Amino acid sequence: MPFIEVVDLAKEYGIKKILDGVRMSLEKGDISIIEGPSGIGKTTLLNIIAGIDTPTNGEVIIGHTKIFDLSEDKRARFRLEKIGIIFQQMNLIDDLNVMENIALPLKLAGKKWKKRVDKLLKYMKIEGLKYEMPHTLSGGEMQRCAIARALANEPEILIADEPTSNLDDDNTRNIADLILKINKELGTTIVIATHDPRIHYLGNRRFVLEGGKIYER
Ligand SMILES: Nc1ncnc2c1ncn2[C@@H]1O[C@H](COP(=O)(O)OP(=O)(O)OP(=O)(O)O)[C@@H](O)[C@H]1O
Ligand SMILES: [Mg+2]
Repeated sequence: MPFIEVVDLAKEYGIKKILDGVRMSLEKGDISIIEGPSGIGKTTLLNIIAGIDTPTNGEVIIGHTKIFDLSEDKRARFRLEKIGIIFQQMNLIDDLNVMENIALPLKLAGKKWKKRVDKLLKYMKIEGLKYEMPHTLSGGEMQRCAIARALANEPEILIADEPTSNLDDDNTRNIADLILKINKELGTTIVIATHDPRIHYLGNRRFVLEGGKIYER
C-alpha cells in the first residue's frame, strides 16, 4: 500500500478548474518533484496534500488516514505531527527570532523545545543565527530556518513549495544537499513543487502538472 495516495483530486475556483482528476501514489522515502509552469496549480496541489486547503472532489490518504474525513481540528493536529511544510512565501514570523520561529510547532504540539531547537539549528548549520530576527537573514539563511521549523516535530512528510526560488547557485546546492540528507538520514518522504531545473535531479519520482492532470515522467 502506498504511503501517500492522491485519488481523483479536483479543485475548482468558481468556474476555473485548477485540478481535474489528479492521481498519485507515493511510497515512503520517495522524493517527488512536481513541475509545471506558473499558475498551473502546484501550490494548490501541495496545500491539498498537506490538508491546508480542501479539494472540490477526491481524496488524500496518508498511511491509513483519509485526511478529509477528519474534522478540521483533527486534521490540523495530524498535520502538525506528521507533515512539515516549507511555504513558497517562507512565512517566517517577523516578530519572532530564529529560535522562536523554529520552536513554534513544538510549542503548538505541547512538546519540550529547547534541546530540539538547538539540535535543528546545528543540523541546518545556523547555530550562530539563533537570536537573529528574520529580516536580518539572507535568503539562504531564511530558507534554512524555514526548513528547520518544518522539521521540528520530526515529520514523516516534508512538503516544499519552490524551496530554491530566489536562491543563488551556492545556496541552491546547499538546500539540495540538505534535502537529500534529510531524506537519507531521517527517511522523510518529500514532495517538492518547483520550476527550478537546478533541483529536478533530486526526485526519484518526477511529475508534471498540466491542464489539471498530473503525468509521471
Ligand atoms: N484562493 C484562490 N481563489 C481563486 N483562484 C485561486 C486561488 N488560489 C489560487 N488560485 C488560482 O489557481 C491557479 C493555480 O495557482 P497556484 O498557486 O496553485 O499555481 P502554481 O503552479 O503554484 O504557480 P507558481 O509556479 O507561480 O507558484 C492560479 O490561476 C491562481 O490564480
Ligand atoms: Mg506556487
